[in-house]
Amino acid sequence: MKRRHFLGALTGAAVAPRISWAGVRVELVAHPVEAQILFDDFPPTPMLGFNGTTPGPALRVRQGDFLDLLFRNQIKDGSAVHWHGVRSDNAMDGVPGLTQDIVEPGAEFAYRLRVPDAGTFWYHSHNRSWEQVAKGLYGPLIVEETSPPDVDHDLIVLIDDWRMTEAGALAPGFDNRHDQAHQGRLGNFARALIDPGGPVRRGDRLRLRLINVATDRIFPIDLGGLEGKIVALDGMPLPTPQPITDVVLAPAQRVDIIADVTATNRVTFDFPVSDGPYALGEILVDGENTNRRSGRITALPPNRMPTPDLEQMAILQLTMQGGAMSSAMRSQTDIWAFNEQSGLTNIPFHRFERGQTARITLMNDTRFAHGIHLHGHHFFELNDAGDLGAFRDTTLVNPGEKRDILCVFDNPGKWLLHCHMLGHQAAGMKTWIDVA
Ligand code: C2O
Ligand code: CU
Repeated sequence: MKRRHFLGALTGAAVAPRISWAGVRVELVAHPVEAQILFDDFPPTPMLGFNGTTPGPALRVRQGDFLDLLFRNQIKDGSAVHWHGVRSDNAMDGVPGLTQDIVEPGAEFAYRLRVPDAGTFWYHSHNRSWEQVAKGLYGPLIVEETSPPDVDHDLIVLIDDWRMTEAGALAPGFDNRHDQAHQGRLGNFARALIDPGGPVRRGDRLRLRLINVATDRIFPIDLGGLEGKIVALDGMPLPTPQPITDVVLAPAQRVDIIADVTATNRVTFDFPVSDGPYALGEILVDGENTNRRSGRITALPPNRMPTPDLEQMAILQLTMQGGAMSSAMRSQTDIWAFNEQSGLTNIPFHRFERGQTARITLMNDTRFAHGIHLHGHHFFELNDAGDLGAFRDTTLVNPGEKRDILCVFDNPGKWLLHCHMLGHQAAGMKTWIDVA
């Protein structure tokens, strides 16, 4: 896709409708949809969606509520829905083969889970996710604070890329082994989907909920026309908000920003690439907020954080191996591994006593970056000095680097631990843990 296509497609962006969810049972129906991914003189693209659209509807619930949701599968393959980042009951985690049976075509499954944490989450297919997420089976899940921060607009910004053909279809080859052995299936077309919902003025205070829903692409984002702070990562509030100069989202990661509009005409979302910034999206600015806030941007109310037991913690290592250009390149089907093991077996990476703390060193012994995601828990990233950093569910580990994480395994059940570059997950980079 040429660059002008990239820019041109910003008009006519399809946006998900908003569902104001009030605690009643909601149906989430997966089925084929058509979406205007490319700009208007291309035909619509056959995709998969929920309730008629891709992205699926934005689910908004209040902290502590139950998400009571009937999933009906009307696509031609089995599926299941995972609530990414939600510290849910294990039985509701949506992982076929580990926490539930696959939901066959024509069948349904009732998900009922409590959402303990306020923040920005998302839901997505967890069966053949590298194909079903690439085709559009995902949507935002927003859990509102009991007393939300005072802003003029609370906006979801979904960032995705798609690999398109010149005819406006999704390129085939979701199981392409060459992609999987490299960075995964990278799109040739990317966009930030934003629904401003109403006019945005200079001086308005925005809450932006950035979610990287791409299967494999890491997005650094340059924001223009705003002044503010990062207030949460992966749904979890930062005790000290951070500057918005280094915004990077690995697949599945979220960044919440609270910022004041300083631009007179547009707020911009750029993806810096070697030949210059690609415009992913923008918010048009019209008029002036004469009642501007002078208060500084403060931390969001914290979610429950476990207290790590540093005296008695397990010390573990998880090494990422395999992929292209690796001496440890595995077989054609099991391209990637953790600790010499590809894919799931009966034996978990580790069995934890409920409440046990562990420090896990994630070693990236490959030529590619990996975004490592743990289900059912958040963990602390440890900085170089060994201090507790952000409390996340997905951490990006660059080639040749290592990251220590500290986790209190307080949620009983069988939980997946995998690379969220979904092509890597497809090709073996996954394991599981058992919390008794
Ligand atoms: Cu976003 Cu295994 O999940
Ligand atoms: Cu990976």
